[in-house]
Amino acid sequence: MKTTAMALALSALFLSAGLSADAQSTVLKVQAGQPKAEIQSTMWGIFFEDINFAADGGIYAELIKNRSFEFSDPLMGWKQYESDRFSRNKQSGSILIINRVQENATNPHVARVSVNTDKAFVISNEGFRGIGIKKDAQYDFSIWASQQEGSESKLLFEVNAQGKVIGQASVTISGKAWKKYTASFKATDTAAKAQATLHFTGKGVTDIDMVSLFPQDTWKQRPGGFRSDLVQLLADMKPGFIRFPGGCIVEGFHLSTRYQWKKTIGAPEERESMINRWNTEFKHRLAPDYYQSFGVGFYEYFQLAEDIGASPLPILSCGMACQFNSAEVAPLDALDPYVQDALDLIEFANGPIDSPWGKIRATMGHPAPFNLKFIGVGNEQWGEQYIERYKIFTAAIKSKYPDIKVVSSAGPFPEGELFAYASNELKTLHADIVDEHYYNNPQWFFKNAGRYDNYDRSGPKIFAGEFAAQSVGTTSPENKNNWLCALSEAAFMTGLERNADMVTMASYAPLFAHAEGWQWTPDLIWFDNLNAYGTPNYYVQKLFSTNKGTNVLPVLLNNQPVEGQQELYASAAWDKNTKEIIVKVVNAGTTATKTEFVLEGSGKYAATAKKITLVNADPNAVNSFESPKLIAPQESTTPVAGKKVSVSLAPQSFTILKIQVK
Ligand code: AHR
Repeated sequence: MKTTAMALALSALFLSAGLSADAQSTVLKVQAGQPKAEIQSTMWGIFFEDINFAADGGIYAELIKNRSFEFSDPLMGWKQYESDRFSRNKQSGSILIINRVQENATNPHVARVSVNTDKAFVISNEGFRGIGIKKDAQYDFSIWASQQEGSESKLLFEVNAQGKVIGQASVTISGKAWKKYTASFKATDTAAKAQATLHFTGKGVTDIDMVSLFPQDTWKQRPGGFRSDLVQLLADMKPGFIRFPGGCIVEGFHLSTRYQWKKTIGAPEERESMINRWNTEFKHRLAPDYYQSFGVGFYEYFQLAEDIGASPLPILSCGMACQFNSAEVAPLDALDPYVQDALDLIEFANGPIDSPWGKIRATMGHPAPFNLKFIGVGNEQWGEQYIERYKIFTAAIKSKYPDIKVVSSAGPFPEGELFAYASNELKTLHADIVDEHYYNNPQWFFKNAGRYDNYDRSGPKIFAGEFAAQSVGTTSPENKNNWLCALSEAAFMTGLERNADMVTMASYAPLFAHAEGWQWTPDLIWFDNLNAYGTPNYYVQKLFSTNKGTNVLPVLLNNQPVEGQQELYASAAWDKNTKEIIVKVVNAGTTATKTEFVLEGSGKYAATAKKITLVNADPNAVNSFESPKLIAPQESTTPVAGKKVSVSLAPQSFTILKIQVK
């Protein structure tokens, strides 16, 4: 009698603490029979910005830096040098930069190479922190050239690494008319830091431009295309959207250096290069050789979006330069060209092929529309000046394209005065989607897992447009993509998923970083000239995106959303297409937690559930080139007993359970 009373009392105690009496497990109830809000197909996406050499030197597979001599120092990245292979010396020739702006306003510089002997005159290009070459891979060399009358010079192109030639091709240049010369070769060795050399022999004067080297193995084998390994990492995420081209790069230091999409389309050799704003942004990580060739331009961004099944989300300048920099603004009565850029972009993406901009898209190779549904007005803007400009843009966009959703900015911080002002104004204006940014420490992310639980449902939808936990501090070069940061992001994302009725898009930022060329850390994917790896944060993003589901399912601990009680964070989704219940749970504690998931509903379930775990005992653990998958998803199965799944959640782990409904 006494024992029974005690058992009952203990049982009541356990239940009130969310513990199951028999096994002393924490009980999470998944209301499997009550699918709630639809999870948008756009829910988990990617944020692409040309920061950290993400475009030139990164996803754009071009291997020659400053290929058209348009950097402020037109010979930056180039060298003339002496070597004994052809007994060449400095007297064998010279190089001079010529500005022919009257003939070619967007690509004015050419290099004039004069040779006067059969001894080779050699110039070399260092690539982007070296040139990555892979043994047995095919490469395409090309160069634009014009030769003065009476000249007879030959050009041998080589790739050299550690004193060895590992690839070679030659072209014979002839005639004054500018022509593109091409040659291909197979590399005989692998090198991460090769250099390209151009050997001119003979007599005469040759003007050269657009010196280019691409691997043939680009994404979808497109000539002059993207690095396939990097795009594959994106495609593997199955992102719902891709935001481009940034980021602060949209805004520019001054308005003159804002991103202008119209200058990034058409033939690559006609695109006007520009300094990259990250070139000088951080004194501790200066990148004097960081420019934008715009080889990746808006056409390529749209194509990339289509290739990886992501909805395109271009962000445009709203006539305000970066407010952390010059804060220059275009006066309201001078805003028309900016607004027109937005309207023309929609036509470029979606217009029929007989419309002026639709025709350009078709001429570039894509007659079908790109199915643009969203457009961003400004990046991280704030204050009254932004709201004034937002109103003008939105009125113009909505009157011509009422179905296009406009993404607006809540400023750089997720709280405080600037945020409150923008959020209130945008709510009053019935904005479609507001972009909120969060760069903060892991504790902030854990603490804010419930951020959206009580957000006003009558307000705009939320785009969690840039977020990343900072292990040291925002913009600190010491930040690491460590496991604790990734875990805190997973916890925060359970809160985004639970509130998918209002959070319709989310993306980690920034996306890419070159191991030697970065300015900002942490970043989702790190690469060098040959390899790339996903950080633990990458696997968190990928796991959410590839296990998205179609509807939110409530998951409760003591009838409350699971957002930190017993250091657990959880969300759940129903996938009506695959007929699966998908539970995501973070155990942020330092001890294992026995957890019983009780599936409330009338369904019958398969006898085993799929279990995917991301875990590491060390919160400071990181992935690296040496151990790229130290923290990567591990799959297993676990039994389903009727309507219960019992698992032990490892300390500091992120677990996904997928339970098939029969
Ligand atoms: O993601 C890096 C930068 O952070 C973005 O360019 C900007 O929007 C934010 O301040």
